[in-house]
Amino acid sequence: MTLNNGVRMPMVGYGVFQVKPEECARCVRDAIETGYRLIDTAQAYFNEEGVGAALADCGVPREDIFVTSKIWISNAGEKAAAASIDESLRKLRTDYIDLMLIHQPYGDYYGSYRAMETALQAGKLRAIGVSNFGVGRFTDLALHMDVKPAVNQVEAHVFSQQTALEKVLREYDTAMMAWSPLGQGRNGLFTHPVLAVIGKTKGKTPAQVALRFLLQRGIVVIPKSTHVERMQQNFAVDDFELSPAEMEEIAGLNEHDSGNVDFENPAFIRYLIETYG
Ligand SMILES: NC(=O)c1ccc[n+]([C@@H]2O[C@H](COP(=O)([O-])OP(=O)(O)OC[C@H]3O[C@@H](n4cnc5c(N)ncnc54)[C@H](OP(=O)(O)O)[C@@H]3O)[C@@H](O)[C@H]2O)c1
Repeated sequence: MTLNNGVRMPMVGYGVFQVKPEECARCVRDAIETGYRLIDTAQAYFNEEGVGAALADCGVPREDIFVTSKIWISNAGEKAAAASIDESLRKLRTDYIDLMLIHQPYGDYYGSYRAMETALQAGKLRAIGVSNFGVGRFTDLALHMDVKPAVNQVEAHVFSQQTALEKVLREYDTAMMAWSPLGQGRNGLFTHPVLAVIGKTKGKTPAQVALRFLLQRGIVVIPKSTHVERMQQNFAVDDFELSPAEMEEIAGLNEHDSGNVDFENPAFIRYLIETYG
């Protein structure tokens, strides 16, 4: 897809949340070998170095790979965020990050965003955006900053479809990127009867049908797996089509439109800030 600043971004990526630092380089190499050209990491995953090692020796030119990282709460504010961008560049062994996101909408994230705008101007970042911003915080930020967020990365899968946020993002030409696009396998997603029946007619697994549902809505997916055969399965999602009736049937699985994690929950916010802020 083409982002709102003209930068091109793959629709299917590989995420490395909870991939152990020592395993990360091997996983990213396997993912690149499989064909993935978008890698999603974050300062808080403690595995940017592993991604950097794989980028350095995978044999694919740097410009053919789209790298995403995220500024963590402990680095919020203009000065700290700017320093953390340089630290991420060092760990990723690269001169630029394709997409930098604010990981969580807490602390001085307006300052962090200004730091990203400056880094964008300097060529250290190619696109900037946010993650886990609900409709209110997203709208306020988008209205106040010079550079409209290119992406909002949020929890999105067949059980949390983010239809309300989707309408708001469209107004700013901001792309939605789905984290946990397989819902981390919860709610029996990998054997869900609706997905299984639809998949059977096309020779596809429930996981592939779940990813395809998001892709057909124009949502970027970044499934994670440490297993090569699952990486391959999750990548093979562009050779079949869900019909309008099938899309509608899957739309009926939506349970928590805005995700299972409530980013406006005071107890959750206090926990995060007391732990990391
Ligand atoms: N911005 C944020 O706040 C945020 C939050 C969470 C995640 N993310 C990003 O989103 C990425 C994906 O989300 P996620 O890792 O939470 O969840 P996910 O991709 O929905 O699910 C990953 C889980 O599903 C398993 N799995 C993957 N493909 C499978 C398949 N085809 N069949 C059966 N099992 C399969 C994986 O196990 P194995 O690894 O054992 O195969 C893992 O346990 C993350 O890696 C991260 O980059 C961002």
